[in-house]
Amino acid sequence: TPLEKIRNFSIIAHIDHGKSTLADRLIQRTGGLTDREMSAQVLDNMDIEKERGITIKAQTVRLEWKGHVLNLMDTPGHVDFAYEVSRSLAACEGALLVVDAAQGVEAQTLANVYQSIEHDHEIVPVINKIDLPAAEPEKVRHEIEDIIGLDASGAVLASAKSGIGIDEILDAIVERIPAPRGDIDAPLKAMLIDSWYDPYLGVVILIRVIDGMIRKGQQIKFMNAGTQHLVDRVGCFRPKIEQLTELGPGEVGFITAQIKEVSQTAVGDTITDVKRPAAEALPGFKEVQPVVFCGLFPVDANDFDKLRESISKLRLNDASFSFEMETSAALGFGFRCGFLGLLHLEIIQERLTREYDLDLITTAPSVVYKIHLTHGGGEIELHNPADMPDPNKIEMIEEPWIEATIYVPDEYLGPILKLCQDRRGIQKNLTYVGGRAQLVYELPLNEVVFDFYDRLKSISRGYASFDYHQTGYREGDLVKMSILVNNEPVDALSMIVHRAAAEARGRHMCERLKDLIPRHLFKIPIQAAIGGKVIARETIAALRKDVTAKCYGGDATRKRKLLEKQKEGKKRMREYGSVQIPQEAFIAALRMG
Ligand code: GTP
Repeated sequence: TPLEKIRNFSIIAHIDHGKSTLADRLIQRTGGLTDREMSAQVLDNMDIEKERGITIKAQTVRLEWKGHVLNLMDTPGHVDFAYEVSRSLAACEGALLVVDAAQGVEAQTLANVYQSIEHDHEIVPVINKIDLPAAEPEKVRHEIEDIIGLDASGAVLASAKSGIGIDEILDAIVERIPAPRGDIDAPLKAMLIDSWYDPYLGVVILIRVIDGMIRKGQQIKFMNAGTQHLVDRVGCFRPKIEQLTELGPGEVGFITAQIKEVSQTAVGDTITDVKRPAAEALPGFKEVQPVVFCGLFPVDANDFDKLRESISKLRLNDASFSFEMETSAALGFGFRCGFLGLLHLEIIQERLTREYDLDLITTAPSVVYKIHLTHGGGEIELHNPADMPDPNKIEMIEEPWIEATIYVPDEYLGPILKLCQDRRGIQKNLTYVGGRAQLVYELPLNEVVFDFYDRLKSISRGYASFDYHQTGYREGDLVKMSILVNNEPVDALSMIVHRAAAEARGRHMCERLKDLIPRHLFKIPIQAAIGGKVIARETIAALRKDVTAKCYGGDATRKRKLLEKQKEGKKRMREYGSVQIPQEAFIAALRMG
């Protein structure tokens, strides 16, 4: 396809503003799918994505409209996948900005819009859902101008649901978004946008050709990875797979090259020709590093092998998540896993539970700390509180910080400010737009990974939106807090906390455990300690717990059932200095963070 006939664009939208519905409409209108095939949303192709309505893996679809080829790049909509978003955007010249006519602009939309602006994109605003009775397109038009600073006079008013404005959007893409540039005679240079494992095709690699041509049978080289492969398929998605003989400059499509693992295909790598290589790789390549770690353990120790298999399978398709074996005295054998963020963690955890039918215990999420050792001992990265060195050997600990942007309706502002303040936040900015406050805070990531997002949502009844990016490391007064049950430390419950917050968190944890651990024939002390110093303490009084006491009616079957249940429960207990802690107690204690 000649360059001037190509348009590459993405769709930027806040969750639920209608991105998938619009994408489906565009595919349908341009003839990629029949009405019947349209029944299921096409671009979101994993179950969890569908259920949660979140797009995780970037996909692309080639559309044809009035003699032009339009490549729609679907970008992941969440901050955890920021680098994937940025590579998809780098493969486009423009974007549709979809804003819900009833909801207006949201914080998460902003981050993506600014990224798109940074990539010099031509942005076409689309005000969607104008069919809704609550739609206020003019108000939203002003919001786009005031908040984002984009000219919205040419915004297309649309309803993806009822099919209004679809042709106008397609025309706007052709007319307003610039054609890509590139040199067909230069050595091959293509960017690796995404890759995934397909059981039939092996690893499929999505690329955007910058210069030159890529063909079946070509020997190619990944410039950052330094590996070579033979291209065995070239094609595109309409959204059904269509094989092509070649892809030229400006084009987006896929290749396969008999690659076995996605970990060999890093997003952002540059693909070139072995015989006639490009002089230099594309800029901006970044190795993605997990930022949040936690332990995953099977509830039933017999499931360990199954867990290992399932994790390995998931990893086939997601090179950004890492895992290594971990043993815990409390929880047995499991894995320490690294994720791009909390949502990423939740998605993996949910897939393991649901698709692989595993019952899991997740330990409290932890960020990556940089520990500077004394006496020139150097610097280590700490992923697991259990590996914390002796405090005497630590000179200084650094923790990651983020800059968070929060949008919240005025009436919830007070409690949100307090929440940020309680989490050691530093307020950078507070502005009002319409009836909403835009808050910018610097926060330690460690305070956010526990339950910040949940708290934010519950305080604001779901109205606050939140977005963040990491800004670097800062020194923090951090300590390891251990939990002791009957004077034995329980490794799975230890955590790294700020010294000022340690006491409150320790007290909270002891109180919780007191309710969760059943009484025994002897008194059980529960303590939170920093080093050798106890900072909080609770005691479980000695008492024999008779589970049948409640059944004074004397129903024999019920009594027997209860006793059987208790026996069952016993099997799952872990013993701590002769104290038996039921698995449920760990799960509940870890849930609260
Ligand atoms: P993510 O995949 O989570 O990013 O969401 P999305 O932006 O793709 O939103 P999606 O297309 O799934 O739409 C969210 C909800 O809004 C769905 O229930 C749609 O049916 C509905 N919706 C989308 N477009 C319109 C529209 O034009 N009018 C109305 N009334 N509803 C719409």
